[in-house]
Amino acid sequence: MLIVDDITKNLQVVGTILRQAGYAVTPATSGAEALEGVREQLPDLILLDLMMPEMDGLEVCRRLKAEAATRQIPVIFLTASNEMEHLVRGFEVGAVDYVTKPFNPPELLARVRTHLELKHARQRLREMNDEKNEFMGIAAHDLRSPLNAVKGYSEMVLEDTALGAENAELVHKIHEAAARMAEMVQNLLDANRIERGEMKLNLAVTDLADVLAAVTETHRPRATAKQQTIRLENESAPVPVMVDPTVVVQVLENLVSNAVKYSPPGKNIFVRLKKLPQAVRCEVQDEGPGLSAEDQKKLFGKFARLSAKPTGGEHATGLGLSIVKKMVEAMSGKVWCESELGCGATFIVEFPARVM
Ligand SMILES: Nc1ncnc2c1ncn2[C@@H]1O[C@H](COP(=O)(O)OP(=O)(O)OP(=O)(O)O)[C@@H](O)[C@H]1O
Ligand SMILES: [Mg+2]
Repeated sequence: MLIVDDITKNLQVVGTILRQAGYAVTPATSGAEALEGVREQLPDLILLDLMMPEMDGLEVCRRLKAEAATRQIPVIFLTASNEMEHLVRGFEVGAVDYVTKPFNPPELLARVRTHLELKHARQRLREMNDEKNEFMGIAAHDLRSPLNAVKGYSEMVLEDTALGAENAELVHKIHEAAARMAEMVQNLLDANRIERGEMKLNLAVTDLADVLAAVTETHRPRATAKQQTIRLENESAPVPVMVDPTVVVQVLENLVSNAVKYSPPGKNIFVRLKKLPQAVRCEVQDEGPGLSAEDQKKLFGKFARLSAKPTGGEHATGLGLSIVKKMVEAMSGKVWCESELGCGATFIVEFPARVM
């Protein structure tokens, strides 16, 4: 634990209270010395005098919070009761608590103990979250190859003309189920990779008009099967943007597949590309159930399964849009939804226009 105070007497008083309670204590008599000490050894907690000549406690705290290595260390300010008006600033720069002079030993110890416990709890939570993500990544990854085996072999069996209609139908179902599962596993892997900061982008000049046309064609059979019509209002000339071509396909596929999934039969889906002065905009508009303001708030969160339910027995994990949002933002774009309950929904993705 690091104690910082320009008055040696205070250092002694606080140091004694803490040492007697069994804590290891390092003293520092100025802000500069404190920052130096922190660099040598990261303390579990810092007790920091607010008023000091040269560099005051607020500035020391600000610098600690500005660096990733020291940001997590809880800072408790030591203040005189007439310095109360500075305390608000103390919290603003990131302190967790304060103790007033003259020190009341049980109070000082109680606050120190609480913040050490909180720090350890936070640390433990971070570790558990990392472990959970790692586990999820491994599980999802290892499920991929057996699933691909099921997909591949069922495709081979389907080619057998002597199979008979009834059996062919069953194998077809096996194939569809495996394909759906592979897609879910891929979504989990993507979400995981993004969460762990491992998404790698290969940015390249990409023609969005081309992407939009391809994505629309991929989804047309599924829409037709639900008696829906996809209407593409594309640009005739190429619309180049700087994005990862595979990722942008995934983004738009998610939006178009949602429109197909949540619209009832017989409706239109409009897919538009628009050039604005500073940006390029893709819109996917449907005539489905739309979203309430309440649902719109949760829309881009993880595992958001909201009021609208699939209209053709499709599967919903609630991961698609959370992945879309992270992917779009990683490519310097924006995505949002405009909708009124009962009046369809429009999903809009915007990328900065490429400067030629
Ligand atoms: N076009 C839409 N119209 C109405 N509701 C929608 C639309 N798109 C998404 N939603 C609602 O938002 C929720 C979240 O969508 P999201 O794409 O994230 O997940 P999902 O479609 O449920 O599953 P998946 O992970 O397979 O994409 C959906 O469950 C649905 O209730
Ligand atoms: Mg979806």
